[in-house]
Amino acid sequence: MHHIAIFASGAGSNAQKIIEYFRGSSRISVALVVCNKPGAGVLAIAREAGVETLLVEREPFRATGYLNELKDRGIDFIVLAGFLWKIPDVLIGAYPHRIVNIHPALLPAYGGKGMYGQAVHEAVLKAGDRESGITIHLVDQWYDHGHILFQETCPVSENESPDSLADKIHRLEHAHYPREIEKWILGSVPQKETFD
Ligand code: GAR
Repeated sequence: MHHIAIFASGAGSNAQKIIEYFRGSSRISVALVVCNKPGAGVLAIAREAGVETLLVEREPFRATGYLNELKDRGIDFIVLAGFLWKIPDVLIGAYPHRIVNIHPALLPAYGGKGMYGQAVHEAVLKAGDRESGITIHLVDQWYDHGHILFQETCPVSENESPDSLADKIHRLEHAHYPREIEKWILGSVPQKETFD
């Protein structure tokens, strides 16, 4: 069984879909939700679903990545779902190619520091793009930079607002992220069947 930790800072709609998707899975279990924001919606979602939560603070997060807490819980993959803080090198080193992120635009466009949620959608609309989408990618030491696993596009309408675009993007994320996480994890490690 693989144990994943979801890192999230906000409402947690992606976290919710991921938790629901893997409920009952015999191979992947959401063991922990890590959050940096007291009162964030994702904490209530995790509690409701019976998933353990860990509230992290900035300085210890930068210094240790709470690596001991992750290791104690047997976490072998990390899933970022709207997590605001940069992942410290200690976690990148401890989980090489084992941290995945979802970004609400078509990277490499509209990535980098400060490009989060609504700010991304506003930038896409300001540029007059006719298309946006989602990017699922591995996490390395640079913001929004690692190997891209999956992208999907959606049209930007004439009268699109940041909120309506966010809704479209969320629908794409919810439809694809859980399944892409599953493919990525099961594709990263030799499967038992291989040896039967
Ligand atoms: C998602 O749209 C995700 O792509 C975005 O934050 C939102 C979180 O929504 N992440 C980023 O912008 C990362 N740079 P949620 O809390 O409802 O899952």
